[in-house]
Amino acid sequence: MAEIKRRDFLGMALGGVTAVGAAASLVAMKRTWDPLPSVVSAGFTTVDVSSMKEGDFSSTEWRGKPVYIIRKKADAEFNAARDFKIGDAVFTLGIQICTHLGCIPIFDSEKEDFFCPCHGGRFNIDGINVPGTPPPSPFEIPPFKVDGMKLVLGESGSEYEAMLKA
Ligand code: FES
Repeated sequence: MAEIKRRDFLGMALGGVTAVGAAASLVAMKRTWDPLPSVVSAGFTTVDVSSMKEGDFSSTEWRGKPVYIIRKKADAEFNAARDFKIGDAVFTLGIQICTHLGCIPIFDSEKEDFFCPCHGGRFNIDGINVPGTPPPSPFEIPPFKVDGMKLVLGESGSEYEAMLKA
């Protein structure tokens, strides 16, 4: 009888530890995938990127489309056609819809690339389609304007226009 009680206690203790671990994992996942604070009005989405740290990936929605924003790591290559700076911080963004047949690719933060599970399409961190995979072109970049540490999606600013000319 005493043995059963001890076993029950161990089972409950182990269950409790597992539940706490699972809850901690969910909190960490939520933090990673939380959309950025944003305000939507009249076709514009204003996104605050001030909390983003190097390597952070986040997403928001603009006119019904998923838009990702990545703050690149300091040692990452700067691609003038796909990246922009706010101070020393380098960001890249794009509409996260596969240019093959419209699936939503998944960002892999370890490999720093996007994988489209529909037909095996790949895009690099700058949203450029990887040769030899189905997507025919890079992710589209939404027009945007930089306003302090905020991005206004839907408005064409100097950073966006510089990307188009690069
Ligand atoms: S829809 Fe993405 S690879 Fe086909």
